[in-house]
Amino acid sequence: MKLHVNGTEREVDAPADMPLLWVLRDLLGMTGTKFGCGIAQCGACTVHIDGAPLRACVTPVSAVEGKKITTIEGLSADGTHPVQKAWAELDVVQCGYCQSGQIMSAAALLAQVPKPTDADIDQALSGNLCRCGTYQRIRAAVHRAAELNT
Ligand code: FES
Ligand code: FES
Repeated sequence: MKLHVNGTEREVDAPADMPLLWVLRDLLGMTGTKFGCGIAQCGACTVHIDGAPLRACVTPVSAVEGKKITTIEGLSADGTHPVQKAWAELDVVQCGYCQSGQIMSAAALLAQVPKPTDADIDQALSGNLCRCGTYQRIRAAVHRAAELNT
């Protein structure tokens, strides 16, 4: 089937029910999107489908055929998306495992709500777990990204 990933059309030979996360990581070699729980509970596998955040671990690839898929690799060409810049500036990352999912959820939030409140941030990112407990820095970085966006 044909997939539209990060602005490029890609052809993959995958069963219709294969999770999108498997297709991205194992067939397309895009390992920025992480496998955490596999049951839509941690957010590590978050990608954008037509701009909205979605858990790739529980999404069959057939469900996203013809849709615009964006992964962490495609968020910006050179790491200069405001969320990526804010993350670097505030040194958010600890082990890093959850962070591509956090960044994708944050970017989707800011696309919808340019100046989010703490409550907006907590709600939008509540499904993204961080074992390292970087939540305070994540929240600060989303506010910083909102500033950089203006
Ligand atoms: S790996 Fe998809 S939500 Fe945890
Ligand atoms: S930075 Fe380690 S799990 Fe979030």
